[in-house]
Amino acid sequence: MSIVIIENVSRRDLLKLAAAGTLPLVAPRAAWAQAAPPILKPLPPEWFVVHGTNAEMRWESVRDRLIANERFFVRNHTRTPSIDRATWRLTVHGTGVRRPLRLSLRDLERLPSRSLTAIVECAGNGRSFFGSQQGTPASGTPWKLGGIGAARWRGVPLAEVLDRAGLRRAAVDVLAEGLDDPYVTGGVDYGRVRRPIPIAKALDDVLLAYEMNGRDLPADHGAPLRLVVPGWIGITSIKWLGRLEVSDAPIETAWNTKWYPGLGVQPVKSAFELAWDAEIPAYRRTTLTGRSWSGNAPIRRVEVSTDGGAHWTRARLHGPNERYGWVRWELPFKPRPGRHELLARATDRSGLTQPETVPFNDGGYQFWAVVRHPVTAA
Ligand code: MTE
Repeated sequence: MSIVIIENVSRRDLLKLAAAGTLPLVAPRAAWAQAAPPILKPLPPEWFVVHGTNAEMRWESVRDRLIANERFFVRNHTRTPSIDRATWRLTVHGTGVRRPLRLSLRDLERLPSRSLTAIVECAGNGRSFFGSQQGTPASGTPWKLGGIGAARWRGVPLAEVLDRAGLRRAAVDVLAEGLDDPYVTGGVDYGRVRRPIPIAKALDDVLLAYEMNGRDLPADHGAPLRLVVPGWIGITSIKWLGRLEVSDAPIETAWNTKWYPGLGVQPVKSAFELAWDAEIPAYRRTTLTGRSWSGNAPIRRVEVSTDGGAHWTRARLHGPNERYGWVRWELPFKPRPGRHELLARATDRSGLTQPETVPFNDGGYQFWAVVRHPVTAA
């Protein structure tokens, strides 16, 4: 008897096939495949806004400096795969290395490790503001500002592994590829999620991370191993890493040509730790809190306006202000009743300041203009 595995077939079609006698035995893969959610961890609505296969962090739920694993935003092109840590291997190969490698998790854990605080932020974080603030909507996940998180990562510097693979001087790009399902959209199969990074960045501070905030990397965040590319757009931090191709010629994939073309370092941005349209008490002194970050350099200063941009006051920065983290800030506010627009504008130590508007791009990437955050005092 033959077994037919059928995917993406409706129940009605299955019944038709069965009636036609063309279906001796059906293993109901469609049923369980559809039952598996794209994200495995719980997504309580007080922490997340879910957009399809992605989950945005609610800024009003943010407390600690680093975002706990269970609260960290998720951006999945397809779904979180389950990978067996025991049989998993990382392949390192290509024209840019002399000795191809196949490494187990044990092999990696034996190599020198490093810890690093770094933000992972989607290049499309803030995309919805192209529409709501500038009148030019961009298609794609309509993130507000919660497509971001900061964590402490531990793992092996990519440079260590490239060194062991006998990196050639001619190497120019390192392509990282995930083990999640190939990405299919508009009827086109683009293959596995993958994107190259230039060799200079790869050798600088990129981490092959197996730990997140002191725990094994969670499934949704790339277990057993992901790349963490500090300061760069989130797509470069490939999760569920299976393959690194080191090449002596530039590599092109859909993820650096069709999507995210020409992007690398993330610009300077800010967010209030407030719900969108938050209600705050009128006539009472409230402390406004928020965070600013830049992939470019640590933050130098943050100015806040509570009157839609007419007047600006320096916010007080506090706590660590690390190279690849975010800095926290606060400012007292005693609002009159009614609607207010809160604005935060950061400047990093390279001198880059958030602008009032940013030029439109089709992908809706890197919206780093000052966001106008509405609140109501009552
Ligand atoms: N890696 C793989 N293999 N598949 C993916 O879908 N999404 C990328 C990146 N790495 C992705 C991936 C994008 S666009 C972002 S913003 C980050 O992972 C999100 O990381 P997180 O889900 O751990 O927050």
